[in-house]
Amino acid sequence: MFQIAIDGHSSCGKSTLARALARELGYIYIDSGAMYRAVTLFFLENRVDLYDQQQIMDNLHKLEVSFVLAEAGNRTLLNGRDVEDRIREMDVAAKVSPVATIPEVRRKMVKRQRELAQNQGVVMDGRDIGSVVFPKAALKIFLTATVDRRVERRQRQLLEQGHVIDYEDILHNLYERDYIDSTRSDSPLMKAPDAIVIDNSNLSPEEQLAICALLARHRLFHV
Ligand code: CDP
Ligand code: CDP
Repeated sequence: MFQIAIDGHSSCGKSTLARALARELGYIYIDSGAMYRAVTLFFLENRVDLYDQQQIMDNLHKLEVSFVLAEAGNRTLLNGRDVEDRIREMDVAAKVSPVATIPEVRRKMVKRQRELAQNQGVVMDGRDIGSVVFPKAALKIFLTATVDRRVERRQRQLLEQGHVIDYEDILHNLYERDYIDSTRSDSPLMKAPDAIVIDNSNLSPEEQLAICALLARHRLFHV
């Protein structure tokens, strides 16, 4: 079965692209970032000390991340509880990158990501999808945009969900996450050598989809 990997910096439009591309191709869409966010929420709720290896291992065994896949939008489940909206809040965003540096967390998530993609075509977005999770993906896109555009987009998105967050707070969170994600030793955010880079700073969601759908059809069906 084919996999399409979409990696890149935070808030540049990866999920928007991956969701739309999956719909076009009749594939499932998996948001791997939602999985790291769900683990982070579990750790926050259970007051897990990120420097205590034993606590991390004990708690990792107690959590399961799954999805309700739906055309209208996937829902992320943490031990069966719908946490889709909760994991987008700023307290989770503030802690997710440190949690995602923990090798045991990554090992469990990567295993789960591969399981979810068994027997079906998948478009998955994240940071290490083309480099680690699916190194043989049929198409790898590395998406990026200027930091100003990314902050604007995230601010508008949060506002639509009823959260008014300062530009500076979002900017700080994006810089911090990009830095931690790119410099961690286990599976850092990086462009796979065979990934195609797209800067979507001046592209609408429709335009980025049109470009990537053409690339996907070419790779998958040789048209
Ligand atoms: O939506 P946004 O781009 O802001 O982030 P996300 O895709 O929801 O991912 C949240 C965080 O999870 C990232 O900042 C990374 O720290 C981590 N992550 C990761 O380490 N590996 C992935 N494949 C996906 C996300
Ligand atoms: O998944 P990631 O964090 O990379 O970004 P996203 O959640 O897909 O997109 C963040 C926001 O940017 C959403 O509200 C998208 O509608 C918007 N967006 C945009 O305005 N133009 C694009 N070319 C892509 C996304």
